[in-house]
Amino acid sequence: MTKTQIWVAGFLVLFLILFGLQKLTQKEEAPIHPGMEMNAPPPAGEQNALSLITANGCTSCHGQDLKGSNLGPGLTGLKENWSSRESLINYLRNPNSFMDEDRFKDYKQRYNTIMPPFNNLDVKDLGKIADYLLTL
Ligand code: HEC
Repeated sequence: MTKTQIWVAGFLVLFLILFGLQKLTQKEEAPIHPGMEMNAPPPAGEQNALSLITANGCTSCHGQDLKGSNLGPGLTGLKENWSSRESLINYLRNPNSFMDEDRFKDYKQRYNTIMPPFNNLDVKDLGKIADYLLTL
């Protein structure tokens, strides 16, 4: 090898070592949740229930603010009709079995949609949703 070739090879090796080191020391960037970074986070339980409610499409029928839309009734003041979280959880799992109540006959006339059963959800998650809904 000529002197120039040795220099070039030396620089190549040095470059590769530095490149490797840089890769090794690079930190994973923390994931950013869009829209979340500006607001102070709500209390943990609430955030959880709310994200479950959005993720499961409840807001698409019951409205972004859960005050109702033409696809479903508002979900405020539920505690007047649901005396316990257990009964509300049962409803969410199997809305059909509650159809005999007058309120639901009325809903049936008013909305073209029906409340889908959420029996595929974890009962713990349904509990969180029910707890949250009963505070509205
Ligand atoms: C496809 C539209 C749709 C979706 C999605 C939906 N609902 Fe409903 N929901 C309805 C309709 C319509 C009713 C009225 C009862 C009926 O006709 O089945 C209802 C009724 C209810 C009621 C009873 C209201 C009362 O007066 O007691 C609750 C509680 C409820 N929904 C919660 C939820 C939750 C929680 C979710 C998400 C996990 C959800 N809904 C998703 C359409 C929907």
